[in-house]
Order: sequence, then C-alpha cells, then structure tokens
Amino acid sequence: MGKALEGVRVLDFTHVQSGPTCTQLLAWFGADVIKVEKPGIGDVTRTQLRDVPNADSLYFTMLNHNKRSITLDTKNPTGKAVLEELVKSCDVLVENFAPGVLERMGFSWARIQELNPRMIVASIKGFGPGPYQDCKVYENVAQCVGGSASTTGFDDGPPLVTGAQIGDSGTGLNLAIGILAALYHRTATGRGQRVDAAMQDGVLNLCRVKLRDQQRIGRGPMMEYPQYPNGSFGDSVPRAGNASGGGQPGSILKCKGWETDPNAYIYFITQAPVWAEICKVIGKEDWITDPDFATPAARLPRLKFIFDTIEEWTMTRTKFEVMEILNEFHIPCGPILSMKEIAEEPSLRATGTVVEVDHPVRGKYLSVGNPIKLSDSPTDVVRSPLLGEHTEEILREVLKFGEARVRDIKASGALGDTLAVVAAE
Ligand SMILES: CC(C)(COP(=O)(O)OP(=O)(O)OC[C@H]1O[C@@H](n2cnc3c(N)ncnc32)[C@H](O)[C@@H]1OP(=O)(O)O)[C@@H](O)C(=O)NCCC(=O)NCCS
Repeated sequence: MGKALEGVRVLDFTHVQSGPTCTQLLAWFGADVIKVEKPGIGDVTRTQLRDVPNADSLYFTMLNHNKRSITLDTKNPTGKAVLEELVKSCDVLVENFAPGVLERMGFSWARIQELNPRMIVASIKGFGPGPYQDCKVYENVAQCVGGSASTTGFDDGPPLVTGAQIGDSGTGLNLAIGILAALYHRTATGRGQRVDAAMQDGVLNLCRVKLRDQQRIGRGPMMEYPQYPNGSFGDSVPRAGNASGGGQPGSILKCKGWETDPNAYIYFITQAPVWAEICKVIGKEDWITDPDFATPAARLPRLKFIFDTIEEWTMTRTKFEVMEILNEFHIPCGPILSMKEIAEEPSLRATGTVVEVDHPVRGKYLSVGNPIKLSDSPTDVVRSPLLGEHTEEILREVLKFGEARVRDIKASGALGDTLAVVAAE
C-alpha cells in the first residue's frame, strides 16, 4: 500500500509550531520532508520547555515526526549553493520565517522560479498585506488580532486566549490544504505557485460565527447570549462565556465531585428535537407542555433558569454517568475531559490519534497522531530527527553529491558540527 503523497519532496524551512504542523501532516501523508536547520542550533523549539536534560523537547518532537533533518548555514556561500540544489530537487518549499527573511537569504519568489518553475512556495506570516504585514507574530497575538480573544471569556472578565493553538496549528492546516490544491493544479499547468496563509486570517476563519453575530447585533438582541434578557449589548460581539455558538442553546454544568475536581463538568445542549427527553430525564415532565418552556422561543429568555435546573440534576451524578444517561436519549452532551483522561483513553490509542513514540535520547513519550485518517494511506508515526541526523544522507542520496563535493562542503563550515551531534546518539 503506497502513501498518498509518495514522490512529493518538501523542503521544510519551518520552525516553532505553525509551519512544522503543516509539514508534519504532509510527511504523515507520505511526502519526503527535509527539514533545513541552522547548524548547532536547529529549530529553536528543540531546546524550549525542555523536560529531559539534553534531549529534544516535547515541543519539538511532537511537531516534527516523519521528517529528515539537514543542518545548513544558508548564509554561508557554500550552504546557499547547497540550498539552491535542494530547491531544484524539491516540489514544495514551506517556510514561516518573519517577513522578508527568505528574500534576505537570497530566495525571492522570482529567484526560486528561476531555479525551479515547478516549485510551490508556501508561507505562513502573521498578517496578510496591509499595515501589519511586517510584524512578527506568535500564537496568542494571532488569537487577539483574529477575533478569538475578544469573543472568548466571560462578559465581566478580560479577553481570554484559548488553549487550542488555532493561530499556529490552525494556520498550518490551512497551509497544507493550499499546498495540496497547488500540487493538484500543477498537474495541469506544470507550474508552481505561491501559497500564503496569514495567522490573522486563519483565526478569523475559525471565528466566522462571531462575524455573523457582529452583523446581527444591530438587528435586535441576540437571545442565545447570556447578556439576554437582563444584560446589555454594546456595538461589538460580547464574550458569551460557555454559551453555545450555534442555534441550539448549551452550557457547561457542574457534575458530582465538582467541588474538588476542576473538570467534573459536562457540556449540555438543549437541542430542540430532544426537549421532551431532557424534561423526562431531569424530572420536569411539566415543562414539555408548559407554554413558558415548550418551544425554543419561549425558552430563550429563561435559559439561565433552565440550565440552573438541569444542573441540579447533573450535580447528582458523575460526568460519565450523565453522559451515559443522556446518550441513551440522544441528547447531545460532552464531559469535560482532562488531558490526563485523554492521554489514558484507550479508544484514542486504538485509532492512532494518541500514539506512543520511542526516541533514542528521551525514551518513550506520547504524541498526537494524524487526526486525518486515509483508508489507503495509513499513517505510521516515526520519531522526530536529531539535529542534522540526515545531513550526509541528503547530500549523497537526494542531491547525488560525490565524495569530493561532500568533503568540500564540510570543509566550508556550511554544515556546522553535525556529525558530532549524531554521534552523541
Ligand atoms: C516566529 C517568529 C516570530 C520567530 O522570529 P525569529 O526567531 O526572530 O526568527 P526569524 O524568522 O526572524 O528568522 C531568524 C533568522 O534566522 C536565520 N536563519 C534561519 N535558518 C537559517 C539557516 N539554516 N542558516 C542561517 N540562518 C538561518 C534567518 O535568515 C533570519 O536571519 P535574518 O533576520 O538575519 O534575515 C517569526 O519567524 C515569524 O513571525 N514568523 C511568521 C509567523 C509565524 O509562523 N509565527 C508562529 C510561529 S509558531
């Protein structure tokens, strides 16, 4: 069984999280991903948030599976010449440097096209063209400028960032989709093209429903928001706490043990088609016909009271018991799972969504596997490369350099002291 992207070679110039998410996904689909790293240092995340002395951090290992690593000083003339050869032999170049870095390195779009007109150049930047196009951006900045922070949290508190890395990993996914489209397009045109994904755009795309609500504000109160009926709405979308972003009201409710367990909660959705079942489960059969509760419109001004009443019931059971009972009646709900519970969940291990990986320096660790499952191209998660681990292999096997040329490149200092690092393994 072949891999979906077998035969596609990716020149991976990414670092930190956003770009590596994209290239890891391409590698999982079967592309040959060659990560170019600065000699002696590599991707800065190798040493960030280290938990095991001298081992690549989990930050790095969990974002760089199935890749090969070559160290190359691209500011060294010989290193730059090697990079030019790599540009000629790859299909896609992926980068998420700060704006202008690739051009300063001597690899403008025009130059890359000269070297390889079939090359697809895919870039992540914080912002698209406009007043902030030259700014450096990290995850939380993207969440703040993309509409997520202003719409997350409670009305009486400050804006909040979310734990989901929607700016970094979210934009990495967008870039991967763009690359796949460009590869497909190339089969017809024979030409590469640029693929640009801005983190602000990526976050805003995920906040689509909030831009929807921005346009509803002037047309009367948004009755599913907790600000209705007693609070007030300003002129921009308010923070909605844990209220549902869709048409079915929902809330996070306490379950048995909430006093000591920070995650003893369940998300409960009062979906209209199962309203009668909800009433029966919580022992409020009279609500089925009571005009104050019988219809979605009648319930909207009473949502707080309704959820308080449901919570009196959920607090008598654990979140898993509540889940089991509600599922019997097809009432949509979800327990708040802690990371510990997710890490230990057998079904996620069985599907490869959570995988255990062995690493020669750090030993075994858990990672998130490929969340996208292809029936004819299953993913095998392979540990991340050590810094420069495949330098010689790439020079000899990919670029087909002979002994003398490899020796000259090493002597030029363009590779740094990579072999010592691999030997330390
Ligand atoms: C993430 C970010 C803020 C980090 O900034 P940074 O650490 O200062 O890194 P930069 O991207 O500016 O690149 C640093 C330098 O390393 C150099 N470099 C990188 N790889 C190199 C190599 N193999 N050999 C020699 N030099 C190298 C670059 O040429 C650049 O040098 P220059 O500024 O002199 O031109 C920035 O890259 C960025 O805004 N990226 C786009 C948005 C993004 O993806 N953000 C999310 C990250 S999760």
